[in-house]
Amino acid sequence: MKKLKSAIYLATLLGTAGLVANATAADNLADFHAENQECDSCHTADGELSNDNLSYENAQCVSCHGSMAEVAEETKHEHYNAHDSHFPGDVACTSCHSAHEKSMVYCDSCHSFDFDMPYVGKWERHEPSIAELAKDKSEREAALAAAPKDTVDVVVVGSGGAGFSASVAAHDKGASVILIEKEPVIGGNAKLAAGGMNAAWTDQQKAKGIEDSVDSMRKDTMKGGRDLNNPALVDVLVTHSKGSVDWMTAMGADLNDVGRMGGASANRSHRPTGGAGVGAHVIQVLYDNAVKRDIDMRMNTRGIEILKDDSGKVKGLLVKGMYKGYYWIKADAVILATGGFAKNNDRVAKLDPKLKGFISTNQPGATGDGIDVAANAGAAMQDLQYIQAHPTLSVKGGVMVTEAVRGNGAILVNREGKRFVNEITTRDKASAAILEQTGKSAYLIFDDSVRKSLKKIDKYIGLGVVPTADTLVNLGKLENIDGKALTETVARYNTLVTSGKDTDFGRPNLPRALNEGNYYAIEVTPGIHHTMGGVKIDSKAEIMNAKQQVIPGLYGAGEVTGGVHGANRLGGNAISDIITFGRVAGEEAATYSKKN
Ligand code: FAD
Ligand code: FUM
Repeated sequence: MKKLKSAIYLATLLGTAGLVANATAADNLADFHAENQECDSCHTADGELSNDNLSYENAQCVSCHGSMAEVAEETKHEHYNAHDSHFPGDVACTSCHSAHEKSMVYCDSCHSFDFDMPYVGKWERHEPSIAELAKDKSEREAALAAAPKDTVDVVVVGSGGAGFSASVAAHDKGASVILIEKEPVIGGNAKLAAGGMNAAWTDQQKAKGIEDSVDSMRKDTMKGGRDLNNPALVDVLVTHSKGSVDWMTAMGADLNDVGRMGGASANRSHRPTGGAGVGAHVIQVLYDNAVKRDIDMRMNTRGIEILKDDSGKVKGLLVKGMYKGYYWIKADAVILATGGFAKNNDRVAKLDPKLKGFISTNQPGATGDGIDVAANAGAAMQDLQYIQAHPTLSVKGGVMVTEAVRGNGAILVNREGKRFVNEITTRDKASAAILEQTGKSAYLIFDDSVRKSLKKIDKYIGLGVVPTADTLVNLGKLENIDGKALTETVARYNTLVTSGKDTDFGRPNLPRALNEGNYYAIEVTPGIHHTMGGVKIDSKAEIMNAKQQVIPGLYGAGEVTGGVHGANRLGGNAISDIITFGRVAGEEAATYSKKN
């Protein structure tokens, strides 16, 4: 064991570079450790895998290497520290480091940066659809014929913000809860959320002297959604938004920074102090609270089929564990919190053919399983055709650059060095305007004062996707933008800031002139970002069938649902949506379970 520890220490000291070097020789854990280790260093004596989280096996990695946070700390001297990414929770080592197969870095499923990541090759998998899984007939029948593996009050499907909020809320209402997640890591798209969580008339706004109201948030939300939103759901969103910020704050969240996002008539996007990304923080707080409550969380476990009794009431969920296979969980209520489907281009393109082949800002699990699972249980759908592109996905590396960069003062210019749009208009308009420019891309331009206003920007710089120069002319040379025109554009913009009115494009906020220190440019193009449609719910998050009747025991919250955002969601409204409706779903499901 001593020899093993030295090898590990050496690898840790070598950091990523060391792992890259070793990857050519051994690209999986078993081979990497072969010289120093016996099988029982990872596996139990009976050789059985512990569970779908591989809890026992991962505990062996941690016992030598330390937790992911500790490894990140030890390797912080490295320029690129894969262990210090945006993954909240206690990430299992086996999420990236495979035991006996070729390891793959999970980040590579979305990004490709200019630096070498260990284990060269793209993180890929073919995930059979829910319909394809129906072919596993005999395995499924055997699982259903057997006794349930677990009995619980509420099963929550999906570990994003909606799923975690639902789990914590259901637990606090007295329900026993199992939370399942099909990916190896928690957090869904929610962990990636950057710009903020919208809420009106909060203590945080008041402390900053920001004037806002619930009614103003309602009007902005309806206008942004082209008035196609379900007003009853919007009412829940806006009237609960302050309460949701308070709920998160009471659980330990810092949502003290408040900024502007597109389509909002006030600064109401709440994020951590200094402007760090909101999503990883919110998920970490929810995860910590779930751990504190001892909620049973199962990764690599996919929700497959809602099970009902003869009267049509939910009686449980059929799941498939990556290692444990099919089994069913008996439960009074199931909450679908499976997120959207923006990563599933086949599904997207069927609904909106002009989006065929577009890249997406989303995490790999955003494939739309929940839509199929709910449809098979008789759920009605709404607004599936409304699919949103985020205007600013970086061309280099595929990083979604938060709208908050524009909200805090960045402008958008084309290759000719000219502004062409109100930078903080709604996403549908900003995306359409970018696609009309030469090369179907544009540049976010900002200076050091914008950079300093938002911590998130340093992350983008760290990833190498932000060219920088001391003058606008030099910046233009780096990125092939007309530098003279760019200089004139920024000078003109600065006069508009001084005058307090954007007479060129009607931008409603002009937070700062761009004239401080270095200048930055990020080439951006729209990426498929949010799916507004989904399962039909009522104000209690109950899922409804085509006859507008509630399916007893079936609840939905978050991006898997439709109706809250109409035809176009406002930036910052999703985190608000998922926390609020997640809580509603959790509390309602717990109450329902007590009565059934
Ligand atoms: P998710 O967070 O996506 O979670 C759903 C989970 O369910 C996933 O982990 C998924 O793997 C899992 N799952 C799916 N199917 C199954 C199954 N069959 N069985 C088990 N598990 C399953 N919104 C804002 O308001 N503010 C922002 O700043 C913001 N920034 C964003 C930045 C990025 C890069 C992205 C992609 C989105 C951003 N959004 C933002 C949107 C917001 O993050 C999402 O709309 C929101 O997180 C959706 O939350 P959710 O809980 O409904 O789904
Ligand atoms: O730009 C962003 O930070 C994304 C926000 C959102 O999708 O609401």
